Amino acid sequence: MAMNPGPAPQPVPSAVSAVSAVSASASASAASPTVALDLGGRTALVTGAAGGIGRACALRLAAAGAKVRAVDRDGAGLEDLVGQSRDLGLAGAVEPLTLDLTDLGAAEDAAAGTDVLVNNAGLQLVRPIEEFPPDVFHTVLTVMLEAPFRLMRGALPQMYAKGWGRIVNLSSVHGLRASAYKSAYVAAKHGLEGLSKTAALEGAAHGVTSNCVNPGYVRTPLVERQIADQAAAHGIPEERVLAEVLLKHSALKRLVEPEEVAEAVAYLCTPQASFVTGASLALDGGWTAH
Ligand SMILES: NC(=O)c1ccc[n+]([C@@H]2O[C@H](COP(=O)([O-])OP(=O)(O)OC[C@H]3O[C@@H](n4cnc5c(N)ncnc54)[C@H](O)[C@@H]3O)[C@@H](O)[C@H]2O)c1
Repeated sequence: MAMNPGPAPQPVPSAVSAVSAVSASASASAASPTVALDLGGRTALVTGAAGGIGRACALRLAAAGAKVRAVDRDGAGLEDLVGQSRDLGLAGAVEPLTLDLTDLGAAEDAAAGTDVLVNNAGLQLVRPIEEFPPDVFHTVLTVMLEAPFRLMRGALPQMYAKGWGRIVNLSSVHGLRASAYKSAYVAAKHGLEGLSKTAALEGAAHGVTSNCVNPGYVRTPLVERQIADQAAAHGIPEERVLAEVLLKHSALKRLVEPEEVAEAVAYLCTPQASFVTGASLALDGGWTAH
């Protein structure tokens, strides 16, 4: 997979930049789209498309020619995405669908007729297990594991009928490794890994691949929001969280950009990746090399 570090660094969310021990110039800038991908005539559904990685994936798949069904509970964020897609010359390519994925029936219905399914929506809470609110644990598992199952359930019949489909699950390094204080997130991501592999085995005979993408820490609002929680959980000031907690296990001491993750998602949708299934593609800066 060709990754071409482009010249323009992405905007840096304030809290992340405030705590960054890594200079902006040291961080690699977002990759320009380099994967050759033609999704003309295909429909893609991306969950959590209003922001962060999901938005980058929605724009990347739209740029590849797909009609993108952009699902999120954040309607304003989706409208912003539609405006951004228009500004990029992709008018009409992104169809927003405001939906809370805890409505599992609606999620399953929304997935009918999609050729590419990107299970991306997620949320995080950093708390020790004994203080972790059970209702939040339930919501995290619902949005990040059960909803992907229901979306697959909705999408697979058409994929099987067409003999082609691509499922890409935004897992995480936390689908492969645990970290303290992230019980719900780690449990959901490990579950998603299993779901993805099972879909790979079932879909193989039908031309459907299913894979995980496993980023380390990505420069998104989800990371920015957990800085204060991480500082409290680890008993350190916020400005030490990035270097001492988030990037502690990463050999590469920078955050990954959403566009780099979207490029890996694009690669998994190419004809060249048709033999890649049941895999977990780590973009973790060497974390899992330990
Ligand atoms: N940011 C990281 O460092 C990182 C690292 C590894 C994996 N990931 C994974 O990538 C995915 C995207 O993360 P991100 O950093 O872009 O997060 P983000 O918070 O920037 O975006 C997540 C999106 O999911 C949406 N969402 C949350 N709950 C929802 C619900 N109930 N219904 C509909 N939409 C809902 C949010 O509105 C938001 O737009 C997540 O699955 C996350 O676990 C992120």
